[in-house]
Amino acid sequence: MAEEVKGKISVAALKRLFSLTKPFARTLYVAGVMMLLDTVLTLSLPLVARLATNTVIQTHSAALLNRYGLVMLLLMLASGVFLYIEYYLVAFAGNRIVTDLRARLFAHLERLPVAYFDSHRSGDLTSYLSNDVAQMQQTLTEDAVRIVGNVVTLLGGILMALVIDWQLTVVVLVMLSFFMSYFILLGPRLRKLSRKGLDALAEVTGTMTEAMGNVRLVKAFDREEYEERRVREGLGNVLSINMRAARIESSFGAVGLAGFGMILIGVVWYGGLLVLSGALSPGSMLAFLLTVAIISGPMGSIAIQISRLQRAIGASERLFAILDEPVEQDQPDEPVLIPSSPAHVIFESVNFAYNSENPVLQMFNLEMLPGKVTALVGPSGSGKSTIASLLFRFYEPQNGSIFLNGIELSQLSRSDLRRYVGLAPPHT
Ligand SMILES: Nc1ncnc2c1ncn2[C@@H]1O[C@H](COP(=O)(O)OP(=O)(O)OP(=O)(O)O)[C@@H](O)[C@H]1O
Ligand SMILES: [Mg+2]
Repeated sequence: MAEEVKGKISVAALKRLFSLTKPFARTLYVAGVMMLLDTVLTLSLPLVARLATNTVIQTHSAALLNRYGLVMLLLMLASGVFLYIEYYLVAFAGNRIVTDLRARLFAHLERLPVAYFDSHRSGDLTSYLSNDVAQMQQTLTEDAVRIVGNVVTLLGGILMALVIDWQLTVVVLVMLSFFMSYFILLGPRLRKLSRKGLDALAEVTGTMTEAMGNVRLVKAFDREEYEERRVREGLGNVLSINMRAARIESSFGAVGLAGFGMILIGVVWYGGLLVLSGALSPGSMLAFLLTVAIISGPMGSIAIQISRLQRAIGASERLFAILDEPVEQDQPDEPVLIPSSPAHVIFESVNFAYNSENPVLQMFNLEMLPGKVTALVGPSGSGKSTIASLLFRFYEPQNGSIFLNGIELSQLSRSDLRRYVGLAPPHT
């Protein structure tokens, strides 16, 4: 089950993930414009604050202070409105993309050959459809746009800081890179853990679905406690993986906050020296502090968001792998219609095995005559159900032919065949 967990981002998967957003290109474009507007307005705040401080210190005019205060208030209100529209549009596109993806995955799964479900438990698949898709949803609806917004805010903020005072900016950048390296170092670990967590969750979901689907057997064999133990063990595994991830994520929060505090102290101290020496105006000092406060948000969250994006890419790889599974070939190019005579079935020298170690049918011949009842009798595991499966074309014989009313099954369309042949499912 647990495939090798990849440490790197696959560019191909990233491209494919974002190809899903194509139908919503215009919506996302508008969201991007809103994001830029919001960022520009937010970043203009320190400049207005600088102007306000320096002017008011010179003029001692409360009226001017009021006016600047009002300007800043309006700036923040407008930026809030832009932010709202941006988030709403992104959620709109993201939710639709994910809804469509779930529907497509389900439709595709339904069309996969029966053999696919022999090697993939339905519980695991259900878990992918709910948990993996949910993780992608969070990324597509929230993180993707926030990452872009945060990068823009961060770069814009650094630019703004350079304009205000380049020396102070250098101090901030040195401290910043020191703290950011912590995130960069631990990011891949977090991603691996989250992939492992999803695998473990799929595993235990599979076990639970299996037990509930076979509840009669579980009860008949008095296996409730055994199943319960298996599920508890599986859940314990999920818990311990998630807690390892939580420890890293919590440390991200703590290191981010500590880093922010250190940088603030550094700015107050070094900026204070600059103000004392007359190299920096008090207004610039205030503007600089505001800029640091504005970029502190992105600084702390960007690493977490990137690691979540990487996780979502991991999840999407698994989902795309499902979409890439070839479906049952439905039709021969020109399917023959089933002749409407009473059913006549012939198995001719049929060889069949589910896997090469264990041949089930070898040179098997059978004729079921029209209008007659044919019963297959044999010990358990002798191949009775297999014969029925072959008649449905759930599997293809490796050798030999099966005829229905004189026509080889492969000449018929699958849906025509399955409408013609009836199946009364067994009760366990
Ligand atoms: N999906 C499968 N994948 C691999 N092996 C299978 C699969 N289904 C059946 N087999 C194997 O093929 C053989 C024939 O199984 P089949 O279910 O056709 O027997 P059966 O005659 O219907 O038995 P029963 O009387 O218990 O229903 C058995 O050895 C079984 O283990
Ligand atoms: Mg059977």
